[in-house]
Amino acid sequence: MYELKDKLVVVSGASRGIGEASSRALDGAGARVVLIGRTLEDLERVASDLKHDPVILQADLSEPRAGTELGERVIEKVGPVDVLVNNAGIPMRRTPDSLTEEEFDLVFSINVRSLLMLTLALGPGMAERGGGSIINISSIASLRGPVGRVAYAGTKGAVDAMTRALAADWGEQGIRVNAICPGLIATAIWEKDRANVPGLSEQLEDRIALKRWGFGDDIADVVLFFASDASRYMTGEVVAVDGGMAKVNSPSRL
Ligand SMILES: NC(=O)c1ccc[n+]([C@@H]2O[C@H](COP(=O)([O-])OP(=O)(O)OC[C@H]3O[C@@H](n4cnc5c(N)ncnc54)[C@H](OP(=O)(O)O)[C@@H]3O)[C@@H](O)[C@H]2O)c1
Repeated sequence: MYELKDKLVVVSGASRGIGEASSRALDGAGARVVLIGRTLEDLERVASDLKHDPVILQADLSEPRAGTELGERVIEKVGPVDVLVNNAGIPMRRTPDSLTEEEFDLVFSINVRSLLMLTLALGPGMAERGGGSIINISSIASLRGPVGRVAYAGTKGAVDAMTRALAADWGEQGIRVNAICPGLIATAIWEKDRANVPGLSEQLEDRIALKRWGFGDDIADVVLFFASDASRYMTGEVVAVDGGMAKVNSPSRL
C-alpha cells in the first residue's frame, strides 16, 4: 500500500501484538526494521519472517536510563533512523483504591519515560537525515475516561501531550510526530479476559460502532500511513483507530 524502500525503522515492543503486526507491515513495504523487546525468542520468531535484514535489540524499557541507552545502541548498530514506532507499553488495570506507587512508577517508566527518552535519543539523527516520522502508540484510554485504569490513562494522556509538544519543537527540522489511539485490539493484553470472563468479549464488542474487535493489522496499516510520505502534511495529530468506540454513539444489540 505504501513505499518504504531503504527506510530504516525502529519498532519498540516488536515481539508480538500491534508491534509485531507493524514490523511485518513495515518490512513488507520495503523498510529495514530494528525490532525491540525483552523476549529474544519472540523477536527471533518475528525476524525470521522479515525480508529486509532485520536487526534485534533486547531491552527492558522499565529500567532507569533504558530509553537513552537503547537510542545509543540503535545509532551504534545501524546509524540514524527515518522512522520510530513507540509501541512498547503495558496495561495497568487498578481501581483508585488499589493502585500502589510502585505500580504507578512502573507503568510511567515504560509507557512515558522510556518512550520520550528513546525519542530524544533518535530525534537528532533523524534531523541530520533531513527529517523523519515518529509514531506514538497511545490509547483511547486518553480520549475517554476508562473505569479502573487511572494510571494507564494518565500515561496515554502524557503520550498525546508529548506528541503535540514535540511536533512543535521538531517541525522545522522536518520531523513529524503523530499518535495513534487503538481501541480494543485482540492481543495478549486481552487474551486472559477474553477467555475467562464470560460475555466480556461480546459486551465490549457491542460498544464499538463497527461491531468487531480490532486486530494488529488494523493498527499496522495506519502505522504504515504515518511512516510513509502519504502523511507528509500531518504532524501533532492524535488519531483514534477504534472502529468508532471513543467518539461514535453505538446502539446496543445485546
Ligand atoms: N491491545 C489493545 O487493546 C490496546 C489498546 C490501546 C492501546 N494499546 C497499546 O498498544 C501498544 C501495544 O499493545 P499490544 O496490545 O500489542 O500489547 P502486547 O501484545 O502485550 O505487546 C506489548 C509489547 O511491548 C513489549 N514490552 C512490554 N514491556 C516491555 C518492557 N519493559 N521493555 C521492553 N518491551 C516491553 C512486549 O515485549 P516483551 O514482553 O518481549 O518485552 C511486547 O512486544 C501498547 O502501548 C498498548 O498500551 C493496546
